[in-house]
Amino acid sequence: MDYFNYRSGELFAEDVPVADIAARFGTPAYVYSRATLERHYRAYDEALSGRSRLICYAVKANSNLAVLNVLARLGAGFDIVSAGELERVIRAGGDPAKVVFSGVGKQPWEMRKALEAGVHCFNVESDTELDRLNEVAGELGVRAPVSLRVNPDVDAGTHPYISTGLKENKFGVDIGQAPDIYARANAMPNLEVIGVDCHIGSQLTTVEPFLDALDRVLALIDQLAEQGIRIRHLDMGGGLGVRYNQEQPPEPAEYVAKLAERLGDRDLKLVLEPGRSIAANAGILVTKVEFLKCTDQRNFAIIDAAMNDLIRPALYSAWQEIVPVVQRDDVEEKAWDLVGPVCETGDFLGKDRALSLAPGDLLAVRSAGAYGFVMASNYNTRNRPPELMVDGDQVHVVRRRETLDDQLAPESCLPE
Ligand code: LLP
Repeated sequence: MDYFNYRSGELFAEDVPVADIAARFGTPAYVYSRATLERHYRAYDEALSGRSRLICYAVKANSNLAVLNVLARLGAGFDIVSAGELERVIRAGGDPAKVVFSGVGKQPWEMRKALEAGVHCFNVESDTELDRLNEVAGELGVRAPVSLRVNPDVDAGTHPYISTGLKENKFGVDIGQAPDIYARANAMPNLEVIGVDCHIGSQLTTVEPFLDALDRVLALIDQLAEQGIRIRHLDMGGGLGVRYNQEQPPEPAEYVAKLAERLGDRDLKLVLEPGRSIAANAGILVTKVEFLKCTDQRNFAIIDAAMNDLIRPALYSAWQEIVPVVQRDDVEEKAWDLVGPVCETGDFLGKDRALSLAPGDLLAVRSAGAYGFVMASNYNTRNRPPELMVDGDQVHVVRRRETLDDQLAPESCLPE
């Protein structure tokens, strides 16, 4: 459920007509809905009320300060993968004590920053990372809280680029080797083993792979208990999918209820790292039709947003719904390819979409709140779009449109 709905044929973001936003701030533009973000976060949090829990929003999905701040105000924790993301969390008013630090390539300086900030846990992804963390913590005279990210070898049944829980992936350690690695970690003077972590992939549309992973991780926790290592929290990562097209993913409440049922009365805090299921449907990308160009083979609508603004269709062949901002029935409906101005054949946001279009029309690409702006680039020296957040009947600029001066400032020519 989101707060982008039609009223009398006009698309609204909460209580604001999207056409008004486009007129005020120009296109292309990302538009987020505060109420939708809050609703999605609460769906997770409330479904787990009564249980020890930490919902760590995955910052990578949408790291705008305002997005993080809205969630921090609700008491959210955060899953980060870099010192940059930690800095964002802190500047947005997030609590470092509710932060988990994931990622396969943490640098010593990033570990240091996270230790100084006092993060809740490091999700360690390899044997050698343990050594590095032990050393850095030793230099600071502290003990680093750790979970080992284990790879339970389940097939998440999602796109290969976003599937992470198989043996062949670079993430985590083989669950079979985990008891030995835990024993090593437990013996290191500057580490404190507190949890087990896994993340099996993204955009999962059924609960079964999560439950399979959970069973395997619980068996590991029992084995560790026999070794005298007590695990206090279980981090199941993120990965719950959203409805882009015809998918029918479970609702967050349904998903966490199943996890909680399987956990029973075990004395374990449940940590989750949802990104997409909180942010995706809380955002749209608004774009304008510049030209219509019909050839013998295809009908192209050339729009002002491109693959540099939203790369998911080009990179993963992702399908995202594209709808008119103002519905019209005075022109013939045709199958359009929505293509951008970038000089690549892969520069499209949608293909074969049945739409009634005229030049100047506004379109909204839905489900663009996650992995949208954060993956945008300056390819073709295009300024990245602004990010706007709607809150009831107010629109806030939470990142202004980039300018050419912004883009060119770090560059220089060779000396004369
Ligand atoms: N935790 C870890 C360790 C992760 O690697 C990820 C996502 C998440 C949590 C959040 O997963 P989510 O709940 O959002 O599925 N750019 C791709 C998605 C990449 C996901 C990477 N890891 C896309 O646009 O589909």
